[in-house]
Amino acid sequence: MTTATFAKGLEGIIASETEMSFIDGQAGILEYVGIPIGELAAHGTFEESVYLLWNRRLPNKGELESFSAELHSYTGLPAGMSGRLLALPMQAHPMHVIRTMISALSMHDEDPNSVDLDEVRAKAMRILARAPTIVAFFDRYRRGLPLIEPRADLSFAQNFLYMLNGEVPTEAMARAFDICMITHADHGLNNSTFAARVIISTLSDIYSALTGAIGSLRGPLHGGANEGVMKMLWEIPTLNDVEPFILGKLERKEKIMGFGHRVYKSHDPRASELKTLAKQLASDTGNTDLYEKSSKIEEVMGTAVAAKGIYANVDFYSATTYHCLGLKLDLFTPMFVLARLSGWSGHILEQLADNRLYRPKAQYVGPHDAPYVPMDQR
Ligand SMILES: CC(C)(COP(=O)(O)OP(=O)(O)OC[C@H]1O[C@@H](n2cnc3c(N)ncnc32)[C@H](O)[C@@H]1OP(=O)(O)O)[C@@H](O)C(=O)NCCC(=O)NCCS
Repeated sequence: MTTATFAKGLEGIIASETEMSFIDGQAGILEYVGIPIGELAAHGTFEESVYLLWNRRLPNKGELESFSAELHSYTGLPAGMSGRLLALPMQAHPMHVIRTMISALSMHDEDPNSVDLDEVRAKAMRILARAPTIVAFFDRYRRGLPLIEPRADLSFAQNFLYMLNGEVPTEAMARAFDICMITHADHGLNNSTFAARVIISTLSDIYSALTGAIGSLRGPLHGGANEGVMKMLWEIPTLNDVEPFILGKLERKEKIMGFGHRVYKSHDPRASELKTLAKQLASDTGNTDLYEKSSKIEEVMGTAVAAKGIYANVDFYSATTYHCLGLKLDLFTPMFVLARLSGWSGHILEQLADNRLYRPKAQYVGPHDAPYVPMDQR
């Protein structure tokens, strides 16, 4: 009989090998293929980061150009998909919309179930390219605005903001959005990435694996926290109300959204990148109050609970950033999807390249030898 370790929530268990991202939670380090996230955010682009994650090396100029051109060439939706989207209820949450539409893309693929690595990679490219179009189309449809077709000459970040707002974004806005995409692209074996790997390990298809991952990400303990952060910032009337609001919540044992992380126990390096970005954007767009409240919350939390290893996470400042970019609250988590589709797909490819079916065990804690009681005696 083999001995097995039980860890609730699989905490501390190594369940996969990956060459994509490295995290040292105690030191607050995140690297993509060895490159610190701060370096990529400062000098790289989202397209370059996706290439890095999928190929485990940075592209040269020509490689990046052809990779980007290929990605941008797939941004249009297959015939029939727009009609499907326009038939959805307008009040649907965009997370349910994107989950449904990524799943629906499988029906426009002649061979959706292929697990051949080259074919899966090509599918990943098409899905990643089309996801921003799905979100932008749905948002304009529900706002009663005409749909704006994607432009293959724009970058991933520019194109999404263009399709959403109807104008090519300023360089600063596109750069801010690009950095959000870079910092959210991959993050070790987080819950949704694990979900994607678990699903593909049955040799199911990439559409099913990504659909499952989106379902996982939607939860408020994972990608859904940035909506909670924004609601909290709106709920706090002024800067002076921050301290009593936060301390009151902590006293009632309520969680402060955008704080704490299963892995990072000193700081979340993605949060530092986003904090700088949020400050700049808030000042450019007249939202300084949001940044100031956020900064004050961080200060209060620092005194109250930092000793427990609870710090601002990636969601905390991404909320202010997205708000300043003009995104509606319910588009915040879908932005996480747009970026993380790249990480999930990379993990799906990695899993398929060296697959072993995930099949952990449960520790049975129920009774044994229980009597089967006849119906009339229960
Ligand atoms: C992300 C999260 C689930 C990780 O939690 P975890 O590693 O499982 O840690 P736990 O939930 O067991 O919390 C450990 C302690 O810290 C406290 N804590 C953790 N996150 C907290 C938060 N955001 N606000 C207040 N207290 C928090 C817990 O209440 C617990 O305190 P206790 O020991 O007195 O009971 C958790 O921090 C959380 O719910 N954060 C808010 C949601 C969020 O921002 N999620 C996005 C993650 S990127």
